Amino acid sequence: MKKISEIKKLGVFTSGGDAPGMNAAIRAVVRAGIYYQKEVYGIMRGYEGMIDADIVKLGARSVGNILQRGGTILKTARSKEFRTKEGRVKAFENLKKNGIDGLVAIGGDGTFTGLHYFSSEFDISTICLPGTIDNDIAGTDYTIGFDTATNTAVQAIDRIRDTALSHNRLFFIEVMGRNSGYIALNSGIAGGAGAIILPEEELSFDDLYSLLEAGMETGKKSNLVVVAEGSKLGGANELAKKIAERSDYFDIKVTILGHQQRGGSPTYFDRVLASKMGVAAVEGLLNGESNVMVGFKENKIVYNSYDQVINQQHKIEEESMRIAKILSI
Ligand code: F6P
Repeated sequence: MKKISEIKKLGVFTSGGDAPGMNAAIRAVVRAGIYYQKEVYGIMRGYEGMIDADIVKLGARSVGNILQRGGTILKTARSKEFRTKEGRVKAFENLKKNGIDGLVAIGGDGTFTGLHYFSSEFDISTICLPGTIDNDIAGTDYTIGFDTATNTAVQAIDRIRDTALSHNRLFFIEVMGRNSGYIALNSGIAGGAGAIILPEEELSFDDLYSLLEAGMETGKKSNLVVVAEGSKLGGANELAKKIAERSDYFDIKVTILGHQQRGGSPTYFDRVLASKMGVAAVEGLLNGESNVMVGFKENKIVYNSYDQVINQQHKIEEESMRIAKILSI
């Protein structure tokens, strides 16, 4: 691990799925780096750009007017080549050529795994920021992008509710979350869903039907079911079809929200979270933290080693599940 004064040039990159707030995090890393008199370089397209030497010097002005923008100005990719030793050797040589000796990565679990390998093979200090809409990273209460994506889902649910009410329809709304029910659970509570289907919960089809049936018996004229993409019970289309086979009480429709949840201007929460985490990444590196992820737990910045966060799913909150059930009757 390098000492404070030894780190001279920082590299920053985004990797994996983009998330709203990544630009705010890039801006914070670049400006904090410059504030502490370090040179900062942007590595384009994540590990791909590291391998291809697609590296650009960034100044305080190069990150102006990006705080409020979705996506990532550095672009992002999921790199197969970085999974090979040859790819990582190329990447390290390119960093060395540019004199980069401290790396800040913004991404999810796959990004961290890559960096964990990299930092154990080569002499480089690394630090990660959790940037993914899924909120599935251990060691932090919130990931950058989750709040915005959930708000986007809630806005869509509200609009769908208007038409559901007008037509007395049952809607199945599928939200993102390959392995994580965070967006589904929170947008479901905020959007007043009659049922929420999460990858983390063992719910049978009969359980779902009973929930909807209870609504029919108590006079619900329309209803909304929020389904996480990774639901083990089936996706929104499949569930809608099966319910229609069992009951003709409702006219049933399906909406898959998809990638619109990944875009858009970040909320105030994501901008502030990303700004705090970006500064914490630079200050952490300069204070000798390495091979750690910056997290935000109970309103405080924390640093966790990669071993504590990689492959450790952020568990869904039981209390939120309980509240969702009480309120869905
Ligand atoms: O991890 C973020 C995420 O948006 C997941 O919720 C989703 O399953 C996945 O990425 C989609 O990835 P892609 O953009 O490669 O289709």
